[in-house]
Amino acid sequence: MTLRPLGMDPALCLIGGAWTPPESRDTLELRNPSDGSTLCAIARGRAVDIDRAVEAAGAAIRGAWGRLPNFERGRILHRIGQAVLENVEALAELEALDVGKPLKQARADVLALARYMEFYAGAADKIHGATIPYLDGYTVYTLREPHGVTGHIIPWNYPMQIIGRSVGAALAMGNACVLKPAEEACLTALAFARIAQEAGLPDGALNVVPGLGSEAGAALAAHPGVHHISFTGSVGVGKLIQMAAAEHVVPVTLELGGKSPQLVFEDADVEAALPFLTNAGIQNAGQTCSASSRILVHRSRYDEVLAGMADRYGALRAGPAMADLDVGPLVSDRQREIVEGFIAKGADLEIAARGVVVADAPAGGAYVSPTLFTGAAPEHSLAQEEVFGPVQVVIPFDTEEEAISIANGTAYGLVASVWSADGARQMRLARKLRAGQVFLNNYGAGGGVELPFGGTGLSGHGREKGFEALYGFSTLKTVAALHG
Ligand code: NAI
Ligand code: MG
Repeated sequence: MTLRPLGMDPALCLIGGAWTPPESRDTLELRNPSDGSTLCAIARGRAVDIDRAVEAAGAAIRGAWGRLPNFERGRILHRIGQAVLENVEALAELEALDVGKPLKQARADVLALARYMEFYAGAADKIHGATIPYLDGYTVYTLREPHGVTGHIIPWNYPMQIIGRSVGAALAMGNACVLKPAEEACLTALAFARIAQEAGLPDGALNVVPGLGSEAGAALAAHPGVHHISFTGSVGVGKLIQMAAAEHVVPVTLELGGKSPQLVFEDADVEAALPFLTNAGIQNAGQTCSASSRILVHRSRYDEVLAGMADRYGALRAGPAMADLDVGPLVSDRQREIVEGFIAKGADLEIAARGVVVADAPAGGAYVSPTLFTGAAPEHSLAQEEVFGPVQVVIPFDTEEEAISIANGTAYGLVASVWSADGARQMRLARKLRAGQVFLNNYGAGGGVELPFGGTGLSGHGREKGFEALYGFSTLKTVAALHG
């Protein structure tokens, strides 16, 4: 296992094709959440490094990158996807060490990253404008153009998937990117940049500056040379990003998590539902924006669903990423404290079941036992606030109207699912649920590279993934010619 795949140096930034230390030479420590040990030093980029990266991205747009025909950009993205596939194990191990996610989940993230590259490679030359019938003597058409320099501030929970969906789409449209990975986990961002460079991505098309959110992140969000900002993370920081972008009237895409419900009706196939109900809560130790943390169940099936989920929770084992169990550690001690705080808020509820942290899990790791709560009123803080840990609440309902009202009764609106055999109900609920994605008799659908994704309310706005992302990462120009 190497922390330096393809010779990548984790203490450097990538700016304009050159691997360089931050101007201050300062570093931050990266920790292994499975045992609390220090993994390596990473660069502590600051505003001055962000300035250089934005400058380099602008130069790429004016230079070789900006002149490439769309299909050539697609070819490069395709080569990057192939190179990612050639490095599945190295990238998966890096992500498992850095984030703490079980190896099989890290592997799935690498494959998703490759799929994003393939998808956006294929799409790069297929997005075009329209001709618009207008007045006599006119020809009117639209041009879809890149924003220019795009800023990408990403979190630590799914670095590779989020790079795939945001950087992949931005590059496909011909933008040049400045990526600020999270201070808790940034190794795969650097390894990906190295892979992209080796695969022939022109200098400056992708720049990476690791650092703290309050330093490098804030500098990127406020930079006058950035023309679009894509952010995934907490609601609080999302608001700061939107305010910083407002200064220069720059568009933002915000993906801020949720409190996503699954609705299990009286006619549901509970056997089929059970694995989805549970996995959607514990995958990546619950540190998933689209985690399903609320399970709403018709009272006639409540005991059955609760018993089935409790059985599954009872069998869950949490341990080091490399042991590849059901659940890894949380990303950091800080995140463990946040999640334990939420579990403490459930003191007035009943714990239906808990998983175990394996006996030989290192004492310094950020482990939390997966916890299934019952007896929460829909207004309870555990049924309202994003926990971002392996914690779910099961809530009963009596009617469809009540189920919809509970489902829509939080400030979030990211994902929802409906478990029912009734086709009319499926169609009705798909319209009535407040969410950017609704799944019918499934949840999550395997990552969904092709499926537009994003939220409403506190979950954010804008769409990533699928073709939709390409519209977000570009702007439309209307050309009207009067020729008589
Ligand atoms: P965060 O929002 O602070 O971090 C996400 C990214 O934003 C990181 O790259 C960070 O460096 C950057 N950032 C932080 N402050 C910034 C600022 N002032 N300006 C610009 N960039 C800044 O999230 P954090 O602290 O890691 O996690 C706290 C909670 O946020 C979690 O418990 C969870 O509820 C939520 N979260 C949601 C995510 C999602 O996928 N929607 C991902 C990560 C966290
Ligand atoms: Mg933070």
